[in-house]
Amino acid sequence: MPFEPVGSGLSIVVCSTCRLSPEQRGDGDGRGGGALFGQVLKSVRDGDPGYHGIDIQAMPCLFACGEPVAVHLRAAGKFSYVLGRFNPDEPAARAILDYALLYAESDIGSVRYAEWPQGVKGHFLTRSPPEGHILP
Ligand code: FES
Repeated sequence: MPFEPVGSGLSIVVCSTCRLSPEQRGDGDGRGGGALFGQVLKSVRDGDPGYHGIDIQAMPCLFACGEPVAVHLRAAGKFSYVLGRFNPDEPAARAILDYALLYAESDIGSVRYAEWPQGVKGHFLTRSPPEGHILP
């Protein structure tokens, strides 16, 4: 399956196939956690002009299946991060979006821990350097 081109700017890629939790695949209507979280993230983003520069994208499986719901934060020339263990709700969405704004303002995608929204603490799974770069 070929990649689908998307914008290369600041974006949050939601795993569209994540479970609601390790114990529960979906809600009572059969909607999975990733699908729900994508909707919530877009709704919160659309409801606040401060978040409008953040693209919300989705794709199946970020290979963090044991830590649902997983998301990937990325922007050109910065570290990218996979975060997981989110409930697909508004407080989690707002924490990720707030972190994304701080991330966008940073030089290389490193945000001082003291500035992290409480809702992202304990949710980081991986950090990856941008293509063509590593830390010395
Ligand atoms: S199903 Fe979400 S990371 Fe694999």
